[in-house]
Amino acid sequence: MKPLAQTPAKAESDTDASTARAAGDIVHHPIASGPLGLDTSMKGKYCIVTGSNCGIGLQVARGLMRRGAHVIMACRNMTACEQAAAVLRGEGLSGSCACRVVDLENPSSIRAFVSQQAQELAVSTDSVGNSGSGRASGVGGDGAAGLRGGQQPQQARRYVDVLVNNAGVMGVPPASDGSDRHLTTNHLGPYLLTRLLLPHMTHGSRIINVASRVHYTGSLSLVSDPNGRAETIRNDTHHWFWQYCRSKLCNVLFTAELQRRYGYESPFALTAFRSSGSGVGVGIGSSRTLEGIGGGIGAHAVSPGLVDTGILRYLLPGQLQWLLAPLRPLFRTPAQGAEVVLYAASSPELQGRNTLFLHDCREKQPSAAARDPRLAADLWRVSAALLGMPEEGEEPGKGSR
Ligand SMILES: NC(=O)c1ccc[n+]([C@@H]2O[C@H](COP(=O)([O-])OP(=O)(O)OC[C@H]3O[C@@H](n4cnc5c(N)ncnc54)[C@H](OP(=O)(O)O)[C@@H]3O)[C@@H](O)[C@H]2O)c1
Repeated sequence: MKPLAQTPAKAESDTDASTARAAGDIVHHPIASGPLGLDTSMKGKYCIVTGSNCGIGLQVARGLMRRGAHVIMACRNMTACEQAAAVLRGEGLSGSCACRVVDLENPSSIRAFVSQQAQELAVSTDSVGNSGSGRASGVGGDGAAGLRGGQQPQQARRYVDVLVNNAGVMGVPPASDGSDRHLTTNHLGPYLLTRLLLPHMTHGSRIINVASRVHYTGSLSLVSDPNGRAETIRNDTHHWFWQYCRSKLCNVLFTAELQRRYGYESPFALTAFRSSGSGVGVGIGSSRTLEGIGGGIGAHAVSPGLVDTGILRYLLPGQLQWLLAPLRPLFRTPAQGAEVVLYAASSPELQGRNTLFLHDCREKQPSAAARDPRLAADLWRVSAALLGMPEEGEEPGKGSR
């Protein structure tokens, strides 16, 4: 695989990074600042980061704000979210943030979040100053649509520049109906969120799915009907580890199908736009043609490495966390874990590239299962069916669940 970023450099200078452990550096290859992405301005970019009240997500929010972005911190625990936002606001970063509630286990909560986002995006450029990213600005573009002197304020629709599907769980018990909450939180919730937000994205927007290298050990099997058409996801393991691995495999497969449908130069998107004219993902709205969008959306799955966060809390309650002490030297800091996310969200290097999977800010070949286009297409269709939504399109807020 061709390395996208090779130059070792300083870690992100977040608070955690200042305490970066030497042992962590053995396996960690921090990316360079400068043209490779860490210094890329995100001024005026509208970014949504799920699960940003702690762990990797919080560092991603911090990094985006440092680059000047407006970050929607999409979290389920508003108290924790507001506390985290207050810390970030107190750091004098050039960007801004706002807290919004979303519970990825609850489709109604996701739909309510997207409806609220739709309203917030439909504001005049005048009232948001230079934070409006304007049409077709994309990541790395010059951002603000702005108003010239003497112009009347006008309604100018803004778009989501970056969606980071970061929130996730590991080691959670099944739901009361026996369903796998790893699948619900780590895949189905982000799938629904992304599908509903696609109409609010534009050419150059990016979707970053925080996956993991454990997807290499994940397997996914879909139950088929007598005609061989996949119908549902087989719940063939009840062990949390394999469920987690499966959910992370779903992250990469979902990314692959996003690329096929809406990625750069996607032939599928071309067909979809030409045949329907509207209503399919990024093509929604009569004035938005494929030509106007000019190629599509960047979708990337990333692996942050082994990171010292609270993700093990479901397996090891607080009083037993000391058991992790011997392993901690192997862990990366959350700021280090966030680097690949920030790179994927902002680097000009990735513009126009359908890079599927990144680890250490380098392109890495994902597992054979993750590269199976049939499996990716089936997962897309089955996920839509499980959520009671059509395979393509859907106006936000009109779903059945
Ligand atoms: N840590 C690692 O070594 C590692 C390695 C590879 C991949 N990852 C991935 O990195 C991502 C972030 O994990 P992390 O290590 O930073 O873990 P973390 O510190 O536990 O953070 C997880 C975040 O997800 C949120 N979340 C969980 N369930 C949610 C739900 N139903 N709705 C909305 N938000 C929800 C959590 O909110 P609450 O605070 O309310 O629980 C928290 O903000 C995950 O996707 C994980 O799979 C982590």
